[in-house]
Amino acid sequence: MIRACCIGWPVTHVRSPLIHGFWLKEHAIRGDYGREAVEPGQVEAFLRSLNDRGYAGCNVTIPHKEAAFAAMDEVEPGAVAVGAVNTVWLDRGRLVGMNSDVIGFLKNLDDHVPNWEREVRHAVVLGAGGAARGIVHGLLSRGVETVTVANRSLSKAEAIAVAHPTSLRVADWASLPDRVADADLLVNTTSLGMKGQPALDLPLDTLKPTAIVSDIVYVPLATDLLTRAEARGHRTVEGLGMLLHQAVPGFEKWFGISPKVTRGLWEHVAADVRG
Ligand code: ATR
Repeated sequence: MIRACCIGWPVTHVRSPLIHGFWLKEHAIRGDYGREAVEPGQVEAFLRSLNDRGYAGCNVTIPHKEAAFAAMDEVEPGAVAVGAVNTVWLDRGRLVGMNSDVIGFLKNLDDHVPNWEREVRHAVVLGAGGAARGIVHGLLSRGVETVTVANRSLSKAEAIAVAHPTSLRVADWASLPDRVADADLLVNTTSLGMKGQPALDLPLDTLKPTAIVSDIVYVPLATDLLTRAEARGHRTVEGLGMLLHQAVPGFEKWFGISPKVTRGLWEHVAADVRG
C-alpha cells in the first residue's frame, strides 16, 4: 500500500484527496491519499518524519509552501525561482521538492487556449502573493514579453519586479482600467471573487476583444470576472483545471503512473465544489 497526503493548516477544505482518490480508483492502485493538519512551526519536523509515518511523499498547501521549501534537501529549478514547494517526495531518504502550481497554471492555459503563446505578448497579473510570483515566472518562461503586476499593496508588486527588472512593470490598483487596455492575457490571482469574498469589480470595457481572461479562483467554478468576460465574448480559463493539473506530478512520483486530467475528473471535483 503506497500512501501520500496533503499537509496544510487548516486542511479540511483541501480537495486533493478527491483528485488522487479518483486516479487511484481509475488505475486500480492499492494506495491512499489523506489529509494531515500540521501546525505552523511543525512543518520541517513533519516532513522529516514522512517515511516513519509511512508516506511516500505529500502535497503542501497554505500556509506551508515557503516553510516546506526551506526544509528540502533538494529543490527542482522551477521551485527555486518561486521560493515555494507544493509537492514533496523521498529519494533515498532525501526530501526533494518541486512547485507544480506553475505547471498546473500553464497546462490549464494550454488546454483552454492551445498555442496561446503566439498571441500573448503582454499579460496583466492581478495580485502579488505566492501564486502571482509563480505565474509571472511561468509566463515569462514561455516567452511572454512583458508582464504588468497590479496589486493593492504596491510594495509587494515591486518586490516581484526586482527579480525580473526588464520584463516586469508594476501598476497600482486605481490605474487598472487603463492598464488592462493593452493586455493579451489578464490573470486574477487575488482572492477577490472567491466565495465569501468581495467580487473583483474591474470594468472590462477597456479590454481588447481578443484578450484571454483567466482566474485561479475555482470556488465558485465560474467567478463573476469570468462570467462577465464570457458575456463580452472573451475566451476564459477557469481555475479548477489548474488545481487538477498541479496534482499530476505528485501522483507520478508517489504512485508511478502518469494520470490524465479528463472531463470525468473535472466533473467529479466540480460536483464537490458546487456542494
Ligand atoms: P496566494 O499565495 O494564494 O497568492 P496571498 O499571498 O494571500 O495568497 O495573496 C493574496 C493576494 O490577493 C494579494 O495580492 C492581496 O493583495 P495585498 O498584497 O494588497 O494584500 C490580494 N487581495 C486580497 N484581498 C484583496 C482585496 N480586498 N482587494 C485587492 N486585493 C486583495
